[in-house]
Amino acid sequence: TRVEFLDYEAVVDYGWSLDDDELFRKAGHADLAPDAHGRLLVHPDESLLEAAERSGFAWPFSCRGGACANCAVYLAEGELSQPTDHIMPDDLAERGFRLSCNGYPLTDELSVVFNVKQRPELDDLIL
Ligand code: FES
Repeated sequence: TRVEFLDYEAVVDYGWSLDDDELFRKAGHADLAPDAHGRLLVHPDESLLEAAERSGFAWPFSCRGGACANCAVYLAEGELSQPTDHIMPDDLAERGFRLSCNGYPLTDELSVVFNVKQRPELDDLIL
């Protein structure tokens, strides 16, 4: 699975919005650092977080077991699995938030914003 990723800090810095359809196009024109915007590949049986780490990126995490939401990402395109025993409430999942530590790609392409744990709606979930 091919993943285009974007750091939420860049979204904040530039005053962009997560639900902006042009978000990744704007990121492409913003000359961001390679660890803030780029692409990586997820191998079969690899979680999104594992793939990011193998690719040399330091994305946030803590428990690695679906219990803390530090690893949360926002899914702009594609689908990432969400195991049953996790902390993410249904309403946030419906709005596109997922956990990268135990999320496995279900589509060939993903566009994700990582580092979204600083979003206010995720505050209560961060342990
Ligand atoms: Fe805790 Fe993913 S690292 S839920």
